[in-house]
Amino acid sequence: MRALASRRALAWRVFATNALVLVTVSVFLVFSPATISAPVAASELLVLVGAVTVILIVNLLLLERAFAPLDELRGLMQRVDPLEPGTRIELRRADADVAALADAFNRMLDRLETERRESARRALAAQETERLRIARELHDELGQVLTGVLLLLDAAGRAPASEVDEVLVEGREAVRATLEDVRRIVRDLRPEALDDLGLVSALQALGAGFTRQTSVALELELPDAIDGLSAEQELVLYRVVQEALTNVARHAGASRATLRVLRASGEVRVRVTDDGRGFGGPAPGDGGLRGMRERALMVRGAVEIASRPGRGTEVGLRLPVEEP
Ligand SMILES: Nc1ncnc2c1ncn2[C@@H]1O[C@H](COP(=O)(O)OP(=O)(O)OP(=O)(O)O)[C@@H](O)[C@H]1O
Ligand SMILES: [Mg+2]
Repeated sequence: MRALASRRALAWRVFATNALVLVTVSVFLVFSPATISAPVAASELLVLVGAVTVILIVNLLLLERAFAPLDELRGLMQRVDPLEPGTRIELRRADADVAALADAFNRMLDRLETERRESARRALAAQETERLRIARELHDELGQVLTGVLLLLDAAGRAPASEVDEVLVEGREAVRATLEDVRRIVRDLRPEALDDLGLVSALQALGAGFTRQTSVALELELPDAIDGLSAEQELVLYRVVQEALTNVARHAGASRATLRVLRASGEVRVRVTDDGRGFGGPAPGDGGLRGMRERALMVRGAVEIASRPGRGTEVGLRLPVEEP
C-alpha cells in the first residue's frame, strides 16, 4: 500500500481527502440524532442542503491543498527564462508525482541547454573556418595576382615604349584571371544562380556541374517552379542538395543518382538518392550531414538520412510552406 501510495502520490492524496470527508460525514450521521422523514420535510431539506454545501466546500478546500504543489510547479516552469541558463526548479514540498515532474523538466532543461551551447559553439567554429578559408583564398589568389599586376605596372613604367604594349597585355590577362577568381569566391559564398535564375535553374546548374565532374548518371526530377519558400529556405534547400551531391561524388562510388523535388500539400520534399556503397550507423562528427540537419532546423525543416552498407543512400529534406 505504501509503495502504491508513494508511486501515485497525487491520486492517493485525492483519495485520502475524499475518504476523510466521507468517513467524517458517515460517523457524524451515525451518532447524530438527525432523521429524515419520507416525504422529506422543508426544514430537513434545508439542513440537508446546508450539510451537503459544507461537505463540498471542505472537499474543495482539501483538494486545493492537495493540488497546490502542481500550481507551484506550473508557476516555476513559467518563470524559467531561456536567456538565463542554469535556472532549475526547486520545490519547497512535493509529492512523488510532482517531484518526478519537476525532475523530468529539469533534465529536459539540461538537455536543451547542452544542445544550445553545442550548436552555438559549432556555428561559431563553422563561421571561423569559413572566414579562414575566404581569407586564405583572398590572400593566395587575389593577393598574389594583384602583387604581380603591381610589379607589371612598375615594369611598364620603366620599359622602353616598344615593350609597353606587351607588358600591358600580360597585366590585362592577370586582371581577367583575378576577376574569374573573385566571381568564384562570391559564387561559393552565395550561389548567384539562386538570385539571378531562381531555385529550379540553380538546382539544374548544380546537377549539370555534378554530371560534368563525375561519371555518375544523375536523374533530375524538378517541378517548373518551386514557390512558397522563403529566401532562407531556398538557400537551405540548395545547400542540402549541394552537400548530398558532394557526398555522392566523394564517398558513394555510385553509378546512378537521383535528385527529386516535389511540391506536396503544405511542404516541399527533396530526395537525393544514390546506388553506391552506403554506410551503417549514425554518421560521425561535425561533418556535412550534421550541418544539413542544423541548417534544416533553422528554417523549421527536417532532414532524414537512410543508408545501409551496399544499399545506397537516401537523403530527404522536408520544408514547410506557407499556403497562399
Ligand atoms: N552518399 C554517401 N554514400 C556513402 N557514404 C556516405 C554518403 N554520404 C555520407 N557518407 C559517409 O558518411 C560520412 C559523413 O559524411 P559527412 O558529409 O557528414 O562528412 P564528410 O563528407 O566526410 O565531410 P564534410 O562533409 O564535412 O566535408 C562520410 O565520411 C561517409 O563515410
Ligand atoms: Mg560531406
